[in-house]
Formats: sequence, C-alpha cells, structure tokens
Amino acid sequence: MSIQNVMVIGAGQMGSGIAQVCAMAGYNVLVNDLKEEFVLKGLASIEKNLQRQVDKQKLTADQKQEILSRLKPSADLQDAAGTDLVIEAAVENMAIKTDIFAKLDKITPETTILATNTSSLPITEIAAATNRPEKVIGMHFMNPVPVMKLVEIIRGLATADEVYQSIEDMTKTLNKIPVEVNDFPGFVSNRILMPMINEAIYTLYEGVAEKEAIDEVMKLGMNHPMGPLTLADFIGLDTCLYIMETLHEGFGDDKYRPCPLLRKYVKAGWLGRKTGRGFYSYE
Ligand code: CAA
Repeated sequence: MSIQNVMVIGAGQMGSGIAQVCAMAGYNVLVNDLKEEFVLKGLASIEKNLQRQVDKQKLTADQKQEILSRLKPSADLQDAAGTDLVIEAAVENMAIKTDIFAKLDKITPETTILATNTSSLPITEIAAATNRPEKVIGMHFMNPVPVMKLVEIIRGLATADEVYQSIEDMTKTLNKIPVEVNDFPGFVSNRILMPMINEAIYTLYEGVAEKEAIDEVMKLGMNHPMGPLTLADFIGLDTCLYIMETLHEGFGDDKYRPCPLLRKYVKAGWLGRKTGRGFYSYE
C-alpha cells in the first residue's frame, strides 16, 4: 500500500503538528477543519514552527517553502476523495468521530486507510462506523508532535496485518518510533500517564504539598521533563478529565475516579495553557 496523499482532520495543536511532520517527510497534506479560519490558524502555527527551525539554522528558507508548498487547506471533507491515508485529529468525542469515519468511508476509495489520533477512545468502535474496519487503525501522536519520538499504533479488533505494516512503515518515514499496542481504554500511554497526573491532582487537593512542590518532586526526583501539574496544563485539563472518565467507565474501577479538583477546574473553564489558566497562570 503506497501512501503519498494524506489528509489530516483537525487543525488544532495535534492536527497541525501531525500535518507538519507529514509535510516534512515529503507527503502531500490536506489540512482539514470545519472552517477555513481554523485551518489558516493551524497553518500559521506550522509556519511559525518552521521559521523557528530556520532561525536555528536547522532548515533553510528554501526547505521551509518546500514544506509549506506541500500543505493545502481544506474545509470540505469531500477533498478526502483523492487521499491514501486520512489521519483524524478532531475533538475527543465518540459521536463526532463515528460521524467523520462514516462519511470518510463513503468519500474515500476503498483502499484508503483511515487512522485516528484518539488518545483513549476504542478504535474498534470507531472502525464499526465504517464498512472497512480492517483499514481502520489508531495512530496516537504525542504533544508536541514535532518533538516527541513516539507514535502508539493501535490495532482495532479487525485491523488487517498489511494495514498495520503500512502504518508502521509510514510512521518510520516521519522519523518517529512506532510502538504496537492493542485496543484497551487509554492504550498504554494514557493508561499509565493519566492516573499519575490524576494522583498528582489528588495530592494537591488533599493538601499534601503545594503545586510547585509536587512538580519539583517529580521533575528532580524522577527526571521527568515537566512536573505532572505543568504537564496537565500543557495537555489541557479538559482532555485529562475526558481520558480519566474514559478509563473509569471502560474499566469500571474506582482507582480511575477523576479527582474532584480536576472537575472543578474544568467547570471553571481553567483548562490550562490554552485558556491562560490551569494549575498555573500563563498571562
Ligand atoms: N512545537 C514544536 N517544537 C517545540 C514545541 C512545540 N510546541 N515546544 C518545544 N519545542 C522544541 C523547541 O523548539 C526545541 O527544539 P530544538 O531542540 O530544535 O531547539 C525543543 O523542542 C526543546 O524545547 P525547549 O528547549 O524550549 O524546552 P524543553 O527542553 O523544556 O522541552 C518539551 C520542551 C519537549 C515540551 C519538554 O518539556 C517535554 O518533553 N515535556 C513533556 C512532554 C510530554 O510528556 N508530552 C506527552 C504529553 S501526553 C500526550 O501527548 C498524549 C495524550 O494523549 C494526552
């Protein structure tokens, strides 16, 4: 299965990062979102990232232009008709994802692979919205996408071996390291990361230590690049809550119960860096 033309759905932080690394690897990339203004915002952030690399002399100005020329805006899902691979990075909502996948199933040729960047939703359930579950797969990139080496590749129940192989090979062309996992809530990354972050929030909630102290312990004591509360702000507290709820519901075990303080912050609209306030302030 040869992949040359890719559509990335969702031009937010994850989608634009995925589009950037695909374009840098030489793929033709359609960056799709509901409105053109969202796409243009995503493209502007890619341009800014690439310019930083030019300033650091890691890319030439010509290379930057060449990469940008491979990125095309799209505000119409029908544009997926000519693609070999679609990577969906829309919001973490099952109804929205199944709707997108059902549409893509009708729009794209039957050879097109449909991948999702979901951080915890079942691939098997997303695949069931299509008539090609064997061509549906999880490609879970990490934030910030241009920097992080890992892509968790998740096999749905029906994912075909040759589809898995194509996606593993394609991931390597992005200069990323694929790791194969099976389809269980949170996969491997968020099954382990999110309960740690949730526990850090409980530690704050129960007054065990101040937020800065909790982050310092994990940074200096465990050599993590960011403390868990800083990382939660970076990921987005709404995303953290959503993943904890998916784990709680998926396993039915109270050890995954989201911390009430996390719920409170999300209700207040304190979602982390993206809203200027989470555990820390960013204004
Ligand atoms: N986009 C692109 N590049 C970025 C970036 C961004 N948002 N943020 C940093 N970088 C680049 C910098 O330009 C710099 O590049 P060079 O080496 O080429 O100069 C490099 O990353 C290092 O950046 P800094 O020196 O500014 O800062 P740092 O050394 O503190 O690294 C970090 C920043 C990479 C974000 C680091 O703090 C880190 O690794 N944090 C943890 C990230 C993490 O855990 N991510 C996973 C989150 S979970 C997830 O994504 C999955 C999920 O489902 C929730």
